[in-house]
Amino acid sequence: MHKGIRAVAVLAATGLAITGLAACSKSNTPAASKTPFVGVILPDSGQTSVRWETNDHPALEAAFKAANVKYDIQNANNDKTRFQTIADQMISEGVTVLMIVDLDSGSGSAVLKKAHDAGIGTIDYDRLTLGGGADYYVSFDNVAVGKLQGDGLISCLTAAGKTKANIIELNGSPTDNNATLFKQGYDQELKAKYDSGDYTKVGDQSVPGWDNTQAQTIFQGMFTTAGGKVDGVLAANDGLGNAAINVLSQNGLTVPVTGQDATVQGLQNILAGKQCMTVFKDQQLEANGAAALAVALANGQTPSGLGTITDTQTNQPVKFKQLAPQAITKDNVKQLVTSNYVKYSDLCTAAFVAACTAAGITAP
Ligand code: BGC
Repeated sequence: MHKGIRAVAVLAATGLAITGLAACSKSNTPAASKTPFVGVILPDSGQTSVRWETNDHPALEAAFKAANVKYDIQNANNDKTRFQTIADQMISEGVTVLMIVDLDSGSGSAVLKKAHDAGIGTIDYDRLTLGGGADYYVSFDNVAVGKLQGDGLISCLTAAGKTKANIIELNGSPTDNNATLFKQGYDQELKAKYDSGDYTKVGDQSVPGWDNTQAQTIFQGMFTTAGGKVDGVLAANDGLGNAAINVLSQNGLTVPVTGQDATVQGLQNILAGKQCMTVFKDQQLEANGAAALAVALANGQTPSGLGTITDTQTNQPVKFKQLAPQAITKDNVKQLVTSNYVKYSDLCTAAFVAACTAAGITAP
């Protein structure tokens, strides 16, 4: 997918201006300047979302190559001990910046503290490590992600003529700050419908570690408790959405289900009419933003154009490069193929060619 795409103007593309960067690259390199070497630890290889290896990994690689930065990208495979071991290795191999997607705030904070003590710059990528005190955070507006999901569910139910609906919420990991923010967003949008009695919440559970397999068991439990009377599902990402769709299908039901990450599976579920929407978060922009910050850290620069986010554990602000998410429905899936985010051949496999054509997606 992304390899090399938009790779060229990596710093410009992020919209980040790095004060004084041009001047210092010519001469007078400040004493603080080091040759950037970025270590990245990704969280898992698909148990929670395929995004990390399918999208983020190649996007980060392209961003570092374009910025001419040395890098080492590894995956903790959902294992906190391995996460720690990789961090130790990276610190001893001399990274100047450590970028992490934490598995939870406790283990993430321990790693950030070690890096900080070793004088290494730190970046939280996608997930804010509560209590971690990273130098920078790069992510999307995650409350906005949740709002798109809540609004998307309401739109799909309304389009289906459902004014009264029983809703199940299948939330992300209780130890991922993003899951908290997504829920804040969708509960805010659904509140009026719950308050008026139009919608009834018949289930609301979190999925430990976003585990897509366990999600199916958890959803099955809530579905059974609700006596199978479910009209809509707020699932926090495509993997959780697919778990819900499996149970619904086994029971002969098709109802609006939300998602996130614009994965091939999620997009195919949308084309097949089994999923109502997903949220597209362009990982190339996220990776470009992170690469620009890593360069800034190595050069002792102060990037401008950043906001802040409050770490709810320490009440301290963390410098935040915030990106905007986008809702995807059957009406605009096409855009992701046109922009080359997803390949026609990956999305429009034999079983989906007709649905692709119906959605205006044609072979290149
Ligand atoms: C990310 C989502 C992802 C989930 C599971 C969250 O922190 O923002 O994009 O689906 O983790 O990996």
